[in-house]
Amino acid sequence: MKDKIRQLEEEARADLVRIDSADAADVFRVAYLGKKGKLTELFKRLGAVPADEKKAVGAELNRVKQWLESAVEGFRQKAPNKGVPDAAFDETLPGIRPPQGSIHLLQQTIREISGIFNRMGFETVEGPEIETEFHNFTALNIPLNHPSRDAFDTFYTTHGQLLRSQTSPVQIRVMKERRPPLKIIAPGRVYRPDTVDASHSFMFHQIEGLMVDDRVTFSDLKGILHLFLRELFGSSTRIRFRPHFFPFTEPSVEVDIQWGKGWLEILGAGNVDPHVFEEVGYDASVVRGLAFGLGVERIAMLRHGINDIRHFYENDLRFLRQFA
Ligand code: DAH
Repeated sequence: MKDKIRQLEEEARADLVRIDSADAADVFRVAYLGKKGKLTELFKRLGAVPADEKKAVGAELNRVKQWLESAVEGFRQKAPNKGVPDAAFDETLPGIRPPQGSIHLLQQTIREISGIFNRMGFETVEGPEIETEFHNFTALNIPLNHPSRDAFDTFYTTHGQLLRSQTSPVQIRVMKERRPPLKIIAPGRVYRPDTVDASHSFMFHQIEGLMVDDRVTFSDLKGILHLFLRELFGSSTRIRFRPHFFPFTEPSVEVDIQWGKGWLEILGAGNVDPHVFEEVGYDASVVRGLAFGLGVERIAMLRHGINDIRHFYENDLRFLRQFA
């Protein structure tokens, strides 16, 4: 019954603002307060309301009745003037709340990770998603015929550019523009020739890191990544560095965290390969660097128990609201 009253109030409010003449006010009065009016019908149902609620419901009905009567009276006095008479506008009613959006979980994750690195002195920069072969491959020491291009080669434009397959080309752009010391992170979208399934997508997000100075060592890399992973996954997180290969770092590692009984790969990293420094015109005998790259989706999935990467891109509010 309370819902019905509430509903009637809404309807009446909508009808009231449309009244623009004395006649219309009369039609309104009959529709709500007449013998078979909507409010009158509700009064007739008062008898069926349980005894303990009757008093409250009756009071509600009377309140609405008084409001409608005074509204109609207001229109009568002002008629035939056009416009919305004061009685139709009850300034004591709450306003209509505009729907409010929230930040997407991927963006939240990027902000959180960036925040950790920003506090360690890394500056956030961005690079273009459409890249040249030079920035995406050649300058990163990935030659034309290198097998690792297969996993990355795709989505070329007619001008010989491609959607970047990694955020690593941002390293090249920053180094070509600036001189050391450098400490940057670069979040953004990357593209792969992958068939979409629960754990793969043709587009996903990475965060790249680069630090260049004249005495950056492997232990700096270990220290920074230790701090980062413990900040993100908790201070007792166990971390493992595994030898690996990337064309643009030497030595290279993959970094795992302990997860239950096993280990999970979280990121790739290493000391910047001297060839990369040569490509950007740095003196490779003087500068030293460290670099790392990680996948944002993977981290968000691990931390929130999300089992299908496609959830991130479908804009299903039932998913998104869980992280609002
Ligand atoms: N670009 C690599 C990838 O997409 C990730 C990566 C590994 C970035 C090692 C780095 C790095 O900067 O040092 O798989």
